[in-house]
Amino acid sequence: MMSTLEYIKEPVADEIVRYERFMRSSLESGNPLTGAMLDYIIGNRGKSVRSVLCLLTASVFNPGGPLPERSLLAAMLVEMMHTASLVHDDVIDESDLRRGKPSVRKKWNSRLAVLIGDYILAKSYATGMECGHYDIVQCMVDAMTEMCDGELVQSDHSGRFDLTREVYDRIIYCKTATLLGGGAQAGAMSVGAGARDVATMKEYGDALGMAFQIKDDILDYEPSDTTGKTPCSDIREMKINLPMLLVLERCGDATREHLRQLMGKVREDESAVAEICGIVIANGGPELASAEMEKYISTAARIADSLPPSRYRQSLQALCTYIASRDR
Ligand code: IPE
Ligand code: IPE
Ligand code: MG
Ligand code: MG
Repeated sequence: MMSTLEYIKEPVADEIVRYERFMRSSLESGNPLTGAMLDYIIGNRGKSVRSVLCLLTASVFNPGGPLPERSLLAAMLVEMMHTASLVHDDVIDESDLRRGKPSVRKKWNSRLAVLIGDYILAKSYATGMECGHYDIVQCMVDAMTEMCDGELVQSDHSGRFDLTREVYDRIIYCKTATLLGGGAQAGAMSVGAGARDVATMKEYGDALGMAFQIKDDILDYEPSDTTGKTPCSDIREMKINLPMLLVLERCGDATREHLRQLMGKVREDESAVAEICGIVIANGGPELASAEMEKYISTAARIADSLPPSRYRQSLQALCTYIASRDR
């Protein structure tokens, strides 16, 4: 089966055009600086996985015709919440590179990055309120609340070698999976799918989201020319990601103590970052994490297989393969 993003997006190509138009008109501002920053952020698109997921889950339950405005709103909210969170995330993580270009905080500064992120969120929700689709807005606000909570728990555990797998799972569920789950859920809700179908789509998106973040953790060990992001940024920020956590669970006391000492130096010593990276890779961290990711991929794929046959279902199936094999 084809599993490129182009193949995945193809059945909702027209809806993507409508959603893009809806999003741009929602965010419009008369202020030149705001406009320039928005052009930079919106003009430099990422993969758009969350909005496409949302449009696909809506289409699965609305096979015949064009999607209602509610679905475009859901897609806009999930993608803009994600986009704003990345603008803020690069401030928090002090990252200079995003989507292969200078991050907003690097191109302007952190102060403006915080403000434009807030602007995107406020404008998106204002659009939701104007449209009056409060159920969709509620669904996405709930997801965003969890996302922020996850980021807070993560910050609280930064540099702590007592991080357990349970806490790690909770963090990535909140910070990443809830948004994909919420997007898939809102898509189905937007076309009036029944409660059971809505819950199933949330389950699919959650599983996909867990896999998505584990893959992101693995990609942190890859060079920036493939990912378009600053490599090893988790280590530099003293975030224990899954490849490292799995190595810590398995290695001997000496390696563990060595890693702990190196971690204490990452802020001032770039060679400590490289050494930690090397140890995690040499101990098979990325492969161990990959095996964990595959479990979530299987859950998502099983749910996708259970949907009624359609070209949209094929895309949701392909999305599982894509997320597991993506290199950016
Ligand atoms: C990056 O998300 C942040 C995570 C939650 C892992 P994406 O990899 O979807 O970023 P873009 O939107 O494609 O740049
Ligand atoms: C995901 O975490 C970020 C959000 C949920 C906002 P990361 O910090 O790992 O994301 P990247 O790797 O910088 O894209
Ligand atoms: Mg980051
Ligand atoms: Mg990351």
